[in-house]
Amino acid sequence: MKIPEFTSFELLPLTGSLGAEIFGSDLNAANDEVIAQVQLALDHYHVLAIRDQSFDPCSFHKVARRFGPFTGNPIHTPLDGFDDVVRFTREAEDRGKVVGEDLHMDMAWMENPPAVTMLYGEEIPQVGGDTLFSSLSAAYEGLSDAMRELIQDLIGVHEGKGVYAVNAVHKTLNVKSSAQSLEEIATHHPLVCCHPTTGRRHLFLSSALHRFVGMTEAESLPIIRFLQTYAQRVEYTCRLRWAPGTLSMWSNTCLLHSAINDYPGQRRVVLRTTIAGSPPTGGSYL
Ligand code: SIN
Repeated sequence: MKIPEFTSFELLPLTGSLGAEIFGSDLNAANDEVIAQVQLALDHYHVLAIRDQSFDPCSFHKVARRFGPFTGNPIHTPLDGFDDVVRFTREAEDRGKVVGEDLHMDMAWMENPPAVTMLYGEEIPQVGGDTLFSSLSAAYEGLSDAMRELIQDLIGVHEGKGVYAVNAVHKTLNVKSSAQSLEEIATHHPLVCCHPTTGRRHLFLSSALHRFVGMTEAESLPIIRFLQTYAQRVEYTCRLRWAPGTLSMWSNTCLLHSAINDYPGQRRVVLRTTIAGSPPTGGSYL
């Protein structure tokens, strides 16, 4: 796929598979052309680390909404005065899991999961607290033709069970009490999807994928486990190193990601919002 040229900022790819850093653009002052180029870069690299931004919740909200409408977030309690901005604070003395630990896709069990997640670093550890990403496009492209053909028409069932229970034990996550109803959700998405703009195919995997339509869990799980393990091969990953003022945007449904829990004794504070796109749709076999 031909990578476009970007004239509004400097862009440095992070790895051969995915991810790019962007320098030299203040999104608070961006015109429509810059926003369009950031979206184009995101569509091609799937993870962006846009350096040297300066947001408070209000300007973060304003910039986010230029990329598209809010998806809703049935899990986390937003900041006062906002429906679309959440703050995740990990205090230096906190122990146990961090928000977003273990590879996952954000809210994959929604009918229309976030197309894009935006995370802004307000306070970042001196070292540690990176985010790991795994490309579900590169993983799909790495499969054999026979395997692609085998999985082409499978429909995944993404379930909410465990989502509330897992998060609710972590009191610092501000989980909404209404999130309890998510335990009942079971949403169908094609296992092989197409990116809505580039047409590039990707797996639609998540930690909430438990079976395929028409198959038992016992039949589905070996395929799911294989794909989840396969998608984590190092050549399909990149690691985003945060700095204060870094804005990350990622193409949520084309990736798995994980917050790395390796900074005990340090504080980490991020703002998060999500952007709706078109619902995941299947792609025919290449
Ligand atoms: C998330 O999974 O949304 C959070 C990722 C992070 O904090 O690095």
